[in-house]
Amino acid sequence: MKLNLPRTIEWINGKVRLINQLLLPHELKYIETKDWRRVAEAIRKMEIRGAPAIGVAAAFSLALFVQGLTTVDIGEAKEKLYKAAEYVKETRPTAVNLFWAIKRVLKAAEKAVSVSDLKEIVIEEALKIWREDEETNRRIGEIGERLIPDGGTVITICNAGSLATSYYGTATAPIYTSHLKGKDVKVIAMETRPYLQGARLTAWELKQAGIPVKIITDNSIGIVLMKERVDVALVGADRITRKGYVANKIGTYPLALVCNELKIPFYVVAPTSTIDLSIETGDQIVIEQRDPEEVLKIFGHRIAPEGVDAIYYAFDITPPKLINGIVTEARILEKPFEKSISQLLTSH
Ligand code: MRU
Repeated sequence: MKLNLPRTIEWINGKVRLINQLLLPHELKYIETKDWRRVAEAIRKMEIRGAPAIGVAAAFSLALFVQGLTTVDIGEAKEKLYKAAEYVKETRPTAVNLFWAIKRVLKAAEKAVSVSDLKEIVIEEALKIWREDEETNRRIGEIGERLIPDGGTVITICNAGSLATSYYGTATAPIYTSHLKGKDVKVIAMETRPYLQGARLTAWELKQAGIPVKIITDNSIGIVLMKERVDVALVGADRITRKGYVANKIGTYPLALVCNELKIPFYVVAPTSTIDLSIETGDQIVIEQRDPEEVLKIFGHRIAPEGVDAIYYAFDITPPKLINGIVTEARILEKPFEKSISQLLTSH
């Protein structure tokens, strides 16, 4: 059995090709560009989104940047690369994968002794980040699959799926692996206002893959989890602190609270590249606040009276006490996360 899913982002003959996720589920259209700024723009406008995917996009943006360098002076080329990296870092603040990928590319670039060397190294490192992302997700799928019983139902929020990564997804990885192993698995996707990543993207990709999915409004999780049988909640992450505080799409924290109240296991599913060892607690995470217009309008149509403003945090923080475990490509981390995270990352 194969998954009928397109690649989210690819490097093809010196160009970056990515799915324009703003057009899904109605149109599957690609943005194809040699312009590094256009890729940064795609991250900012959320034409590509999801923590691992924006990490890959940031790396590819820098790969396009070096490809277009005309100077032969390696010192000057590196200076320009650092400036471009600063520009790409400004696109979105919360997902650490973006900063992680840029750091990896810049570290690799240090070794370059000529401009042609720099081009080769940066492009190769970006491709490595892209390839490793899929491999990591497949391992997450193998490890997390056991959390889903045959005939089970998973609840998820936002899109931590294939579209949020180079392929296969994080929270969807255990779902896809279960499905590919012949298990019967169903999904409930929270619609995820205001960008509707759940209704537009998760539902689209699960349908493509042949996995039954139903949408719920975000505010119905209480009653849905009370009335319907749900075996496990699997959610992605944008940043995980050393103590296990998790930033993820707005609505994740209320989902965790209801799961906790109703004793439904709540797991965060993320690659180790989402762990930020430099911070301890949730209040140290920069929570992106986007344009309130995105809340006040639905598909360009204003739903609130003129002159009324909105509060729009794009992410929230779930504290470790509400999380049963963190599924990574190495193993499922248990509480206390401070200990399991530090053990994993010193042995990884
Ligand atoms: O604003 P988005 O769509 O980039 O937010 C995405 C999420 O919150 C995902 O759950 C997270 O990035 C993990 S993706 C594997």
